[in-house]
Amino acid sequence: MRDDIAICVKKNGDRDLAGSMSRKLGVPVGDREGDGLTLLFDSKGVSLTGYGLTYQGDFEGMLHRVTEGRLQHEMLSRVAKTDEKGLNAIDATAGMGEDGFLIAALGYEVTLYEQNPVIAVLLKDAIRRAKKHPVLKEIAMRMHVVEGDSVELMPKSMDKIDLIYLDPMFPKRQKSGLINKKLQLIQKLEPPCSAETDLFNAAVEAGPGKIVVKRPLKSPFLDGRNPNYTLKGKAIRYDCYVV
Ligand SMILES: C[S@@+](CC[C@H](N)C(=O)[O-])C[C@H]1O[C@@H](n2cnc3c(N)ncnc32)[C@H](O)[C@@H]1O
Repeated sequence: MRDDIAICVKKNGDRDLAGSMSRKLGVPVGDREGDGLTLLFDSKGVSLTGYGLTYQGDFEGMLHRVTEGRLQHEMLSRVAKTDEKGLNAIDATAGMGEDGFLIAALGYEVTLYEQNPVIAVLLKDAIRRAKKHPVLKEIAMRMHVVEGDSVELMPKSMDKIDLIYLDPMFPKRQKSGLINKKLQLIQKLEPPCSAETDLFNAAVEAGPGKIVVKRPLKSPFLDGRNPNYTLKGKAIRYDCYVV
């Protein structure tokens, strides 16, 4: 039984989903928020609240990044862009799926692995809502969340994988207050990341065409492995490995 999170259902919240999370986490369902973190089910969907903050996955806020020719200006486009159709990608460290969403916007079918059940349910809910949006739905339909450890699951993948994306660590410091606020609650949940060597080896074992690793600009290469090439931005960089 966990004591670090409460589950609360309010009016028009999804009771069945709350019940299944209750069994998974070993936490009773209540009708009041807890003192610390609470997974809240209400008419707006699923959100995480606590410490005066509320966080809900939201792809609508990313609309401006994928419409009106903006997608091609994303750094991620420069390392993952393709004109081919029907390509498959794995986002092995899905988190709240923002990068996975951009990869899906580029046309890939994306399997998103997330090991944390609370983050996974928030992500699934964000995708569910995006599927109702007239523009976002086409992208959201290509996003498939699998709850579990990608180190175990990736090598078992039967599909041909064109791209594997790894972004294992939430950055410790963020300059933007907004990002800070948004991540504060999620960061409270994040379990320690898998060992870098295990993650990288599992990605290679899945046999992708390319592995892209997102890193804070100045951090060392994942598992100390030299990439074939790197694309640098102001705060982050993408290390690319042609497998
Ligand atoms: C930095 S966040 C990813 C953020 C994501 N790129 C985004 O755009 O929202 C890292 C996430 O990877 C997850 N994670 C780390 N190792 C994992 C593994 N082996 N399998 C599945 N998920 C993993 C963590 O639980 C966390 O939610």
